[in-house]
Amino acid sequence: MTNVVVVGSQWGDEGKGKIVDWLSERADIVVRFQGGHNAGHTLVIDGVSYKLSLLPSGIVRGGKISVIGNGVVLDPHALVAEIDKLAGQGVKVTPENLRIADNATLILSVHRELDGLREDAASNSGTKIGTTRRGIGPAYEDKVGRRAIRVMDLADMETLPGKVDRILTHHNALRRGLGEKEVSHEAIMQELTSVAERVLPFRETVWELLDKERRKGARILFEGAQGSLLDIDHGTYPFVTSSNTVAGQASAGSGMGPGALGYILGITKAYTTRVGEGPFPTELKDEIGQFLGEKGHEFGTVTGRKRRCGWFDAALVRQSVATNGITGIALTKLDVLDGLDELKICVGYKLDGVQIDHLPASQGAQARVEPVYVTLEGWKESTVGARKWADLPAQAIKYVRQVEELIGAPVALLSTSPEREDTILVTDPFED
Ligand code: GDP
Ligand code: IMO
Ligand code: MG
Repeated sequence: MTNVVVVGSQWGDEGKGKIVDWLSERADIVVRFQGGHNAGHTLVIDGVSYKLSLLPSGIVRGGKISVIGNGVVLDPHALVAEIDKLAGQGVKVTPENLRIADNATLILSVHRELDGLREDAASNSGTKIGTTRRGIGPAYEDKVGRRAIRVMDLADMETLPGKVDRILTHHNALRRGLGEKEVSHEAIMQELTSVAERVLPFRETVWELLDKERRKGARILFEGAQGSLLDIDHGTYPFVTSSNTVAGQASAGSGMGPGALGYILGITKAYTTRVGEGPFPTELKDEIGQFLGEKGHEFGTVTGRKRRCGWFDAALVRQSVATNGITGIALTKLDVLDGLDELKICVGYKLDGVQIDHLPASQGAQARVEPVYVTLEGWKESTVGARKWADLPAQAIKYVRQVEELIGAPVALLSTSPEREDTILVTDPFED
């Protein structure tokens, strides 16, 4: 028995929410450790769809503890809205089933506004990132700049005003530079105090809770957001998010030491998608890309933007297997490939006429690489809803085997529809 860390191995939206929900039956605690409400995780249970952004995907199951760790940036108003929306779907969120790290950083309105202002300004010069405009980047900047306001500060009216002054000195200087109106101390105090009593009941010393539970033998499931190629260090910088998304962050972003992390499960889509700007060597701008987008319903949960689609890139996932220490993968959306005559998998690139086996880190080189493909025969049969390996057509199995070989990691789970139960278990990550 072990703990399990779920991470995205591509550019996000690999189906982490579905797999975390499925795995959470076997877990006692589900922990978010980075990102914020830039994430959009969709769960489908008996035809009912739940869309989660900030809350861990374990929240929809009874009897589990969901934890928002210190590595998350938390917009308190978004939290309250999500809790209220779930209540409307019959899911009760209480201090019994949700705990929030008292040292998690808060996202304020000034962060959201700055994110939008910068993106608007960059749009005119063609340099935008295509962020979710949720204030994620600016909030992490303030955390690293040591001027952030954290969950625990909402309970301390002695120190909060001074902290608000400190953060506003920085933000009002930025706003003046951007030609925006300054924000008053009173406005931010009001924004924080209006929501404090909805947030504070959930506060927890998370490192201590996890330590105690781990010693008692609880099974802890860590739920990554975004994907490894959006990691601030290992991703396609600067077209990335502002946190470390790789598995090592599960430890720093929750306060549980790395020795207890256990099985690293990389959620991997059977093809590739990306939302926002940035390099995408296997992108398909033709009718096959359109086919994948329509069949896979590739529209962002958070912003509704159309996701860019392309062939599976084994060279990139192989890199994610290394940077995360992936033990095994959950391969999702295999069913979306049903009906294609042939399938391509990228095995490396050509850069200025020379063949290379991994994506270079430089932005210029990333824009110039051309993918090198192997081609496989497709299958005509439907794999939708397959729940047994034996239900898969021979060509689909060949595709899966080829993926495993090229990325250097085995398939532990295989997903064949959005529904919770349409999942094939090969290896139970908690028992590995
Ligand atoms: P996440 O951000 O990684 O949690 O992924 P999203 O929820 O943003 O996007 C994945 C989408 O694919 C969701 O709408 C899921 O319901 C859906 N999905 C997950 N697994 C499968 C699958 O195996 N087949 C199909 N067709 N859809 C899936
Ligand atoms: P889940 O958890 C896909 C992308 C944005 C943008 C970049 C930076 O659902 O997989 P940010 O708002 O984080 O500063 O935006 O990162 N991005 C995601 N793409 N899935 C996500 O989350 C994402 N979260 C952020 O589109 O390109
Ligand atoms: Mg998503």
